Amino acid sequence: MKTIGVLTSGGDCPGMNACVRAVVRCAATRGMKVYGINRGYQGMLEGDMELFDPIAVSGLMGNGGTVLRTARCIEFKYPEGRKKAADKLKEFGIEGVIVCGGDGSFAGAKALCEEQNIPCIGIPCTIDNDLNYTDFTLGFDTAVNTAIDCMHNVVDTMTSHERVCIVEVMGRNCGDIALYSGIASGADGIIIPEMPYDLEELAQRIKNTRKMGKESNLIVLAEGCGHAHAYVAQFERLLPEYSVRGTNLGYLLRGGDPSMYDRVFAARAAIRAVELLEQGIGNRVVGIRNSQIIDLDIFEALNMPKKDNRELYSVFHQLVLG
Ligand code: ADP
Ligand code: F6P
Repeated sequence: MKTIGVLTSGGDCPGMNACVRAVVRCAATRGMKVYGINRGYQGMLEGDMELFDPIAVSGLMGNGGTVLRTARCIEFKYPEGRKKAADKLKEFGIEGVIVCGGDGSFAGAKALCEEQNIPCIGIPCTIDNDLNYTDFTLGFDTAVNTAIDCMHNVVDTMTSHERVCIVEVMGRNCGDIALYSGIASGADGIIIPEMPYDLEELAQRIKNTRKMGKESNLIVLAEGCGHAHAYVAQFERLLPEYSVRGTNLGYLLRGGDPSMYDRVFAARAAIRAVELLEQGIGNRVVGIRNSQIIDLDIFEALNMPKKDNRELYSVFHQLVLG
């Protein structure tokens, strides 16, 4: 393969730019040309794409967001939309595509491979860490580090006022951002969709921590379990003696400069993706398992059983007070 495309699709994440840069640089080293496809599948079917100069990606590595922009494209969900997109790719001489996105974008890549015979390779880009075939998705590490910084600030003010705070974090139906940031912030409670939770028991533990001398409490809530304001109302009822506040970190976690881990992961994943396309291989996704870069069939990747977080949850439980 001599000419390929790269796009970013679905929710953005820190590390997408590092990934695009690595695709362009690695392809150039191999004598391949790369088209940047703007606004995900929307740009693909509109022919909104241009050739990347390897020099133009200088300085991109450390920037959050995505220079290619991203979009959610309804038309691409239908075979007619994908036919239109494939025709545009052919018009530009693009023989294969690297798709940086989440499970929805991968479903699109799979359909493009199978229906239109365009080899596609997926790179897992989402802060949610909700793809079961890979230990980590790109952007997750940065998002968790940002959450930890924010929680540190929240705890400062909560301690001054001796309050209880519910901090909501993104993750869609996956509790990983809440679980990792909660452990790393020394939270008193972590509420995630993967584990049963009992608010009365948690309220009792909070009372116990206060008797032991704790002056504030942090409860980390995954968005998949509901919103902070609803939990504030419940804890106000369960803990009438304390002042309770809630805050949603929301999009703060989706922006920002990528961490070292995400930059290096982006580089390694991009190299594998380019190598596969160079050999004419498609319909696969790249990931990381036990620190090794892996690739596997898209269908297989999307149908993996959910990851087991019980060990990590027990780490939290063994260290918590009360
Ligand atoms: P993410 O990739 O982050 O999960 P989305 O679920 O929003 O984000 O998907 C991004 C885009 O991928 C959608 O706007 C659509 O263009 C395409 N897509 C999603 N699901 C499918 C599908 N089942 N078939 C074809 N394309 C899809
Ligand atoms: O998938 C990433 C994510 O940030 C989720 O954590 C969140 O639920 C969702 O995207 C928000 O998406 P939108 O950009 O549509 O508000």
